[in-house]
Amino acid sequence: MNISLKNQRILVTGASRGIGRAIAKQLSESGAEVIIHFNSNAAEAEKLLSELVNPAFIESCDLSDVNQVVGFIPKLVEKYGAISGLVNNAGIARSAPDDLPTSKWLEIWQETLQVNTTALGILCKEFVAQSLVNQNGRIVTISSRAAFRGDTPDYLAYAASKGAIVSLTRSIARHYGKQGIKAFLIAPGFTRTDMAHDILSQYGEDFALNDIALNELTKPDDIAPMVTLLCSGLADHATGTSIDINAGSYVH
Ligand SMILES: NC(=O)c1ccc[n+]([C@@H]2O[C@H](COP(=O)([O-])OP(=O)(O)OC[C@H]3O[C@@H](n4cnc5c(N)ncnc54)[C@H](OP(=O)(O)O)[C@@H]3O)[C@@H](O)[C@H]2O)c1
Repeated sequence: MNISLKNQRILVTGASRGIGRAIAKQLSESGAEVIIHFNSNAAEAEKLLSELVNPAFIESCDLSDVNQVVGFIPKLVEKYGAISGLVNNAGIARSAPDDLPTSKWLEIWQETLQVNTTALGILCKEFVAQSLVNQNGRIVTISSRAAFRGDTPDYLAYAASKGAIVSLTRSIARHYGKQGIKAFLIAPGFTRTDMAHDILSQYGEDFALNDIALNELTKPDDIAPMVTLLCSGLADHATGTSIDINAGSYVH
């Protein structure tokens, strides 16, 4: 099977590090023009840009600031032209133990929902609007195993934020398919990144290793090929689907 993303322009959010970085790299290697989105790590985003052979761009937007998110996609479309793919990857996982004062717990809840859910909803809404013009667009959203299996009490907000985007994705897939828009969800388990490092330093490495069916923790490069396939159009009839990549730690 030959996969070519030639003539595709794909925005990957949170591409400065971790899973997003691996996705952006592989999409570019497969021929796409990639817009590398980042928040605070401009140096890492620029480093990635310098490693890519195909044309690519970097753009920042703080997804915790709704004023920056509204209008972000139209701004990119004006600058670069129509976008054929949106990979919603950026996200945060902040621990909020249940014995925190409720005001502090709420602050973490709101930030998590803002970055992982509300910002993503705005990006999808604006992406769909520009996709309707050419009746063409694919959304790949990186959710989490936590959306389906649930998470520990420290990560209630994270699990809730990732669950909401499951129904968002399914709704987009069901409603806009006839207008050429496809939407897919990927639900990774623990994947070796800075985010996982934070969680593993809280719970210990065995917490994750004893949980999975395979011998090694998932790496960002284990997630990227599925995203590339979904962006290629070869799997369009799977629109609306949720795909687990969790090393057999939750089979449902
Ligand atoms: N790692 C795992 O075990 C795991 C498991 C299941 C699901 N996931 C999901 O996979 C996705 C990627 O996770 P990861 O592990 O690669 O995370 P990561 O290494 O922590 O990287 C997070 C990325 O999101 C960006 N980001 C964070 N806060 C942002 C904000 N306020 N505005 C805009 N961008 C922001 C970061 O940008 P800057 O670096 O520029 O700040 C970075 O590029 C997330 O949605 C996560 O929930 C991860």
